[in-house]
Amino acid sequence: MSNTFSYTEKTWEEFWAEFWRIKLLANDDAAIIKCEQVVDVCFHVLQMEPGMTLLDLGCGAGMQANLFAERGIEAHGIDLSPTLVKYAQDQASDRGLKTTFAAGDMRDFTVDEPYDRVTVLGMSFGFGTDEENEQTLHNIWDATKAGGKILLTGQHPYTISAHLGPEWMELEDGFLLHRGDFDPISCRLGGPWQLVCPDGTVVLEGENPEADGIRCYSVPELRKLLTDIGFTNVEFYGTWFLPPSELQWFSMELILSADKPK
Ligand SMILES: C[S@@+](CC[C@H](N)C(=O)[O-])C[C@H]1O[C@@H](n2cnc3c(N)ncnc32)[C@H](O)[C@@H]1O
Repeated sequence: MSNTFSYTEKTWEEFWAEFWRIKLLANDDAAIIKCEQVVDVCFHVLQMEPGMTLLDLGCGAGMQANLFAERGIEAHGIDLSPTLVKYAQDQASDRGLKTTFAAGDMRDFTVDEPYDRVTVLGMSFGFGTDEENEQTLHNIWDATKAGGKILLTGQHPYTISAHLGPEWMELEDGFLLHRGDFDPISCRLGGPWQLVCPDGTVVLEGENPEADGIRCYSVPELRKLLTDIGFTNVEFYGTWFLPPSELQWFSMELILSADKPK
């Protein structure tokens, strides 16, 4: 069988952004409903009010940032992927929203004016090395107003088994294979993503910002990291339902909120 795999023309960033975050998620009803739940919980936990400013780091296709804007928040999204930033900005324009987006790296950014609220959604905290993740938290501190609040989501360390082993997904012309793996020494959940042609040839192995997996921080680790920087009232939640429920050992999400004191 000849290799006519269309995705080989694309970089991993383009493939991942276009296929996963835009084609699959941004147009999936269940994903859209979940984004609305996420925004509901953020409004509640972060005591948000129209007119507040919000920075969403690792904003992906801008689904939540644009929903925040629809509810009167001055939202700005940052993501590593220029493809996603362009998609998110186009969405905002099409919907007449004032959301702004920029390509950027949460491990290395500064802001002109600190924000009332800062979020990292979609289990996006922890893709860097331990040092980079700690730097990200310092950057978030600097990007948050005194008296402001943050909400971060990461990979729950006790539910990693749900992500282990081979997982196939059929594409238009081939398959996506993820061989989920966990390294107990570095506490990282990862494993390679591969695009596989119908004849079985592996044509592209993922080299994306998430290629080294995600650090699965425990609650005590996160609490210490945040309080060492100066954050207070560090609270943990396990679902995107209201009222926010306590984090359990079996929760599929690890959500934390914290305050930057006045
Ligand atoms: C799991 S997705 C979540 C996207 C979005 N927050 C959501 O919930 O739909 C992670 C996103 O973080 C971005 N990302 C990963 N590392 C990043 C970094 N260092 N700085 C900024 N964005 C990053 C990726 O490009 C991707 O869009």
